[in-house]
Amino acid sequence: MINLISDTVTRPTPAMLNAMYRAEVGDDVFRDDPTVNRLQKKVAEMFGHEDALFCPSGTMTNQIAIKAHTQPLDEIICDENSHIFQYELGGYGFHSGAAILPLKCENGKLTADIVKNSIRPPADWLPNSRLVVIENTGNRTGGNFYTKEEIQPIAELCKAEKLKLHLDGARIFNALAESGDTPKETGERFDSISVCLSKGLGAPVGSVLTGCSELIQKARKIRKVMGGGMRQAGYLAAAGIFALDNHISRLKEDHKNAAQLAAALAECSFVKSIKPVFTNIVIFELDNSMAGDLFVQKLKEKGILVSAFAPYTVRMVTHLDVSKEMIDQVCHTLKRF
Ligand SMILES: Cc1ncc(COP(=O)(O)O)c(C=O)c1O
Repeated sequence: MINLISDTVTRPTPAMLNAMYRAEVGDDVFRDDPTVNRLQKKVAEMFGHEDALFCPSGTMTNQIAIKAHTQPLDEIICDENSHIFQYELGGYGFHSGAAILPLKCENGKLTADIVKNSIRPPADWLPNSRLVVIENTGNRTGGNFYTKEEIQPIAELCKAEKLKLHLDGARIFNALAESGDTPKETGERFDSISVCLSKGLGAPVGSVLTGCSELIQKARKIRKVMGGGMRQAGYLAAAGIFALDNHISRLKEDHKNAAQLAAALAECSFVKSIKPVFTNIVIFELDNSMAGDLFVQKLKEKGILVSAFAPYTVRMVTHLDVSKEMIDQVCHTLKRF
């Protein structure tokens, strides 16, 4: 099967499994796992933050960041497509008692002007604007990315208005591969960052939250109360370290493969439109002759897995387990449809 459903479907490579097998471990709840400590130090240093915390998932790092930055009656500003708004079950309310202001932004990207116009005036009947969340790359918006020039004015505004700024960096290395910005430049602009290891980087589990020491100390307690304290987690952290050392430089291959898919789809008579492809996500709309479910089923019969986003909208995601040869095969299949 060629699985283009998500970049979360990758299996650890033999070399990654070997690194996991050989990991030195301890009890991380006692901060005693040397491999977890090494991963946390590595990610914190990469982004120029004081400290970091290894967590089971991207959802958990986002939710911990929200809880650490806000208190009940506070409000979060984000784009309406954000993962924290769409796919985290209203965790901002459930865990943190916070409200959310999901905004309609061009290409799903916030700007300083949009944020400025969304800050609540002081009034007893309004929540307190407290946290801005940016997603880079944007999942629902087709893998598009922010550059540092786009983020800088938002970061300056947040500082001036005493708002915290969190980055959902589930695919931050895909973004940096295209923008050419560095992790350090990214770290300078955010109070906290979620760095997923289990998307484009190909680790089986895990996300790291970075920030200042005080924030991460708070995050450690929140992770525990959420049930996210792990014991010999070094086996998983070893996969993360391996992914950071070996799988960042190849991300552009995934982006090239996604561009090839988009070019093949553009030749298909039943494809109505394709969102511009920026990184490893291809989102396209089918015309009335082919419903998404039918298209998904037909491709499945040919050994290709993709997902229908909406009745006529389909998504394909390229990743570590999809080779150039597989992409050629998918393009050939599309041509013969
Ligand atoms: C942008 C974004 N943020 C966060 C997450 C959540 O990650 P996880 O599935 O590890 O909870 C995802 C998952 O796909 C995502 O795409």
